Amino acid sequence: MGVRFGYQGMIDDDFVEMHHHSVSNILQRGGTILKSARSKDFRTAEGRKKAVENLRKHNIDAVVAIGGDGTFRGATELYDEYQIPFVGVPGTIDNDLYGTDETIGYDTALNTAMEAIDKIRDTADAHDRMFLVEVMGREAGFIALETGIATGAELILLPEAVKKIEFIKDSLKEVFKVQRRSSLVVVAEGDQTGGALNLAEKLQDDFGKYEMRVSVLGHLQRGGSPTSHDRVLASRLGSAAVEALLNGHYNVMAGVINDKNALTPMHKTWSEKKSINFELLELAKVIR
Ligand code: F6P
Repeated sequence: MGVRFGYQGMIDDDFVEMHHHSVSNILQRGGTILKSARSKDFRTAEGRKKAVENLRKHNIDAVVAIGGDGTFRGATELYDEYQIPFVGVPGTIDNDLYGTDETIGYDTALNTAMEAIDKIRDTADAHDRMFLVEVMGREAGFIALETGIATGAELILLPEAVKKIEFIKDSLKEVFKVQRRSSLVVVAEGDQTGGALNLAEKLQDDFGKYEMRVSVLGHLQRGGSPTSHDRVLASRLGSAAVEALLNGHYNVMAGVINDKNALTPMHKTWSEKKSINFELLELAKVIR
């Protein structure tokens, strides 16, 4: 069975019967045939009770939950309250789940953001402008760090590496000192500067002369045909999740660590913090 619109569909009894062929020819598609939702009702005890009633009505004895930490917290609540066995599959562009080197969607988002920033770079270069590009990552800088390196950004700003505004200004002044006339700053939306628009205001007085422009990439990072890397990862983790359930491993997330399938207790996926690679941050400084 598939549940449409995630937990909201569980509450609204929006279940669809699925067969092997239901997933034919979708590997190359963006989005989800089952749809998705951020469910407020599921946060209530009453909503979860309804969800469980519907699971039982359809004789569903275990659930594979695909999503990020919100999805996994919800799954854990269902287990704690009603002992519904779950296995999680990490699906979020933010890559911020402990227990897997990469989450499904992250690589596609990286490549999409990289291509967009390459194009923005052309205008920055043509007009000798300074661009502040905001990429997604509500609380994590994984996308910003890797796209920043891949596009040769002059500065990368992440929530994990907080920078004072004076430091940001000094770094940019250094960039322009070495005869560069255009520059590109990649900012994670969750950065403490408050995102690219706020940062632009703070930089206007000192850098306005470089015809500063802001570009917020937004939801284009969440769609599109998946990269081969994401297709393989999703296939691998989907299969690992089913195997885990068959082998009686519940309330774990199926992930890949050092190229090996790995199961991590569900609560650790959010209680432990996955760190960005600080060596990459150092590398960014060297190659900018
Ligand atoms: O958590 C994944 C994410 O893509 C974040 O990077 C982003 O802040 C958020 O989802 C956007 O969510 P929504 O589409 O609900 O605004």
